[in-house]
Amino acid sequence: MTEKILILDFGSQYTQLIARAVREANVYCEIIPYHQPFSFTDDLRGIILSGSPCSVNDAQAPAVNIRSFAEKRPVLGICYGAQLTAKQFGGHVAKSNKREYGRTSLQTKTEDPILKNIPSSSQVWMSHSDSIQQLPDGFILLADTESIPVAAFRSGSSAVHHPIYGVQFHPEVYHSTDGKKLLKNFLTDICGCAGDWTPAHFISDTVEQLHQQIGTRKVIMALSGGVDSTVAATLIHRAVGNQFHGIFVDNGVLRYKEFDQVMETYRSLGLNITGIDARQRFYTELAGLTDPETKRKTIGRLFIDVFQEEAKKIEGVQGLGQGTIYPDVIESVSVHGPSATIKSHHNVGGLPEHLHLELIEPLRFLFKDEVRNVGRELGIPSALIDRHPFPGPGLAIRILGEVNEEKVSLLQRADHIYINALKESGLYDQVWQAGTILLPVKSVGVMGDERTYEYSVALRAVTSVDGMTADWAHLPHSFLAEVSNSIINQVRGINRVVYDISSKPPATIEWE
Ligand code: XMP
Repeated sequence: MTEKILILDFGSQYTQLIARAVREANVYCEIIPYHQPFSFTDDLRGIILSGSPCSVNDAQAPAVNIRSFAEKRPVLGICYGAQLTAKQFGGHVAKSNKREYGRTSLQTKTEDPILKNIPSSSQVWMSHSDSIQQLPDGFILLADTESIPVAAFRSGSSAVHHPIYGVQFHPEVYHSTDGKKLLKNFLTDICGCAGDWTPAHFISDTVEQLHQQIGTRKVIMALSGGVDSTVAATLIHRAVGNQFHGIFVDNGVLRYKEFDQVMETYRSLGLNITGIDARQRFYTELAGLTDPETKRKTIGRLFIDVFQEEAKKIEGVQGLGQGTIYPDVIESVSVHGPSATIKSHHNVGGLPEHLHLELIEPLRFLFKDEVRNVGRELGIPSALIDRHPFPGPGLAIRILGEVNEEKVSLLQRADHIYINALKESGLYDQVWQAGTILLPVKSVGVMGDERTYEYSVALRAVTSVDGMTADWAHLPHSFLAEVSNSIINQVRGINRVVYDISSKPPATIEWE
């Protein structure tokens, strides 16, 4: 049985970070909206209450019955979760004189299992405007800071059956230097978790579950050459062997030689994949289209057509594999009401409604870094695991304006030079995503004695954590100079290279 922690989300921007920190301690956890009912199953070891943009003193403040939880399991409240605890047990929470954001020094006041191996003074990250002015009767102060009297506390032994802890700071963020230790203490010493949720454990559990779920049925899946679909496919294949049928479509807007390389990797992993060369179909339909959204939709629709045609050739298919990962399915809590909105995502949707198949999503509860770790454990080559994200519509949204075969070929060759150079200089892993954009302008140049009139390309490289915000990567000038030279000398048809120095926002990562 996999032990589990539940994180009740009150809408904090840091909730996912809490989940990741718990997972880093090798404990499985799930995030649910605070108002979602749940059962105290045997595998449930403890409950964490997240922060929130709300104040516990708001009339509409989101709330749960903490006492009823603590009768059954240990509870840790973080920020808002701590304030809610204090308030519900009779303490006093009020607006601080000044809002406190950023680093501050935590001073511990007593010994406690949750503070094990944490120095008496350590740096923590605060982000709050309310603070706990007075603890409930019988509660014990564990730590304070220069500006707030209660930075960490616990319930007294007689208050409830299981301990309730509260911390005003954010142990889950990087700047709280001992925060992960505190979380780990909570998980192991307070909740009694074994902390044995490792990639190997995940793989054996998942393969077993997939085996049960799929039985003798056939599963099809569209692969993209990316990490998620490859890891998902490998797990399904491990569970049901050649009942798994993968389909990889060459849509004509992949990277240089990508189709062949990815097919080779799939073969080396023993996956049963059919490669479909649909390049001409895509070029034909893309001809004359210049609007980015029209190009996206056309590629999406055509992809589904091609996939469905292939799927029909495999008789008796009942399951559809997908590489959906946790950030795509977490319901983000709307703090202005109990309704929960599900994040929409570029890669989710489309296929299932058309095909009426049962969804098989082995990565539904993993974060991206966990998918990578599982992929490594499965023996998937690092060239694939550590690849930059690449958009579904591929080079079509990096060729501004109309797409045709000749432009694709130009861009593929320029991009190949750039990406290779990043890899050779060790810069590839330092940027989150990089790519080349073919601009719809020609400009004058001179080569030898000849005047040229050719295309320009823009190089893009960004640093980011999740693609939601991004900064342009400060690549060395000497590196850019070399890449520019190589592209202009080696790719006939391009005579100018520029570097994109826009951050997101206000720009986006892709140009279309
Ligand atoms: P933007 O351009 O919105 O990109 O800053 C953020 C991230 O999303 C990727 N992206 C896409 N991925 N289909 C995809 O699968 C798309 O239509 C699409 N548009 C953008 C982009 O590459 C970046 O990683």
